[in-house]
Amino acid sequence: MLRVGMLTSGGDCQALNATMRGIVKGLQNIYGDLEIYGFIDGYKGLIYGKYKKLKPEDFSGLLSKGGTILGTSRMPFKEIDLPLPDGTEKIPSMKETYKKLKLDVLCVLGGNGSLKTANRLYEEGLNVVGLPKTIDNDIWGTDMTFGFQSAIDVATHAIDCIYTTAESHSRIFVVEIMGHKVGWITLYAGIAGGADVILLPEMPYDIKKVYKAVEKRMKDKGFAIVCVAEGAMTKEIAKLPKKDKKAVLAEKAQKYPSVAYEVADLMKEKFDSDIRVAIPGHTQRGGAPDAYDRLLTSRFGAKAAELIKAKDFGKLVVLKDNVVDAIPLAETAGKLKYVDLDNQAIAEAKTLGICFGD
Ligand code: F6P
Repeated sequence: MLRVGMLTSGGDCQALNATMRGIVKGLQNIYGDLEIYGFIDGYKGLIYGKYKKLKPEDFSGLLSKGGTILGTSRMPFKEIDLPLPDGTEKIPSMKETYKKLKLDVLCVLGGNGSLKTANRLYEEGLNVVGLPKTIDNDIWGTDMTFGFQSAIDVATHAIDCIYTTAESHSRIFVVEIMGHKVGWITLYAGIAGGADVILLPEMPYDIKKVYKAVEKRMKDKGFAIVCVAEGAMTKEIAKLPKKDKKAVLAEKAQKYPSVAYEVADLMKEKFDSDIRVAIPGHTQRGGAPDAYDRLLTSRFGAKAAELIKAKDFGKLVVLKDNVVDAIPLAETAGKLKYVDLDNQAIAEAKTLGICFGD
């Protein structure tokens, strides 16, 4: 019999339930008998000992169900050693819950910050296995995180819908795609949706180059689509020292609800055409996982079960060159996987005439 704890932490995404289902199916086949403790709302549940006791049957039918049956919340790693407002110490409480429930292992489904906490718990002596969750695909050490492909599908569909209405009305549309620090979703959905301009956080833009691309597109086709990642910024701002940059961005946040409105304003300075903003927002994290994510998380779940069987803890399940593998949590903790500027997809997009404003 195995006593397994599970939690989902950070922003949700489409295949969290599918991942848990994969882990449970794998473990059930290996161990037969399981006691499953699903902690409510991420690390909070582990801290306060709030959990659902689940049976393997509870994971049936979850392959295609979005969201997370456990709930989730954010708990910044930089505050991990600070007590909660009620004085509760986080790490000692989590260790206590783990010990009280006599868990054999804790599976953490999370993004960068959550995996840092998972690594810390491993260093504190708990048996931990991590699974790479995030629509942003920014976890270092894995080619793919679960949620990413589903988010690309949603964002691409949003651009498709904008495309037809932009064409009908001869408008310029600024479509804002999720990603504050990294632009993977914007890059891939932008290409898949046929955007004319793609602006990424990793590639600060020159507005004059964006104008030129939009001008050409308006002349050729009469409508244009600019895809902008939440964290995109101009070259001038990117060049500023950290403190000044923070101040300028804070000022902009006062003026604009988000970056797409700022880019739309810049467009208004140059073009007489109608300009509109479209923001798919959290729809990119919602709904059912696509087939790719269902396959990926089934494979990830099986790997997690194998790691647990081998008592190979402190590891993160990853995909490398289409092989499912595992790397030490310590190796990935604290590193982000940015869009590399020599990425082949960027070069290809440029060949197709897509402007990055660089
Ligand atoms: O990390 C996933 C993500 O969806 C980002 O792409 C986005 O910037 C952020 O979370 C939004 O966070 P929240 O759910 O707190 O609004």
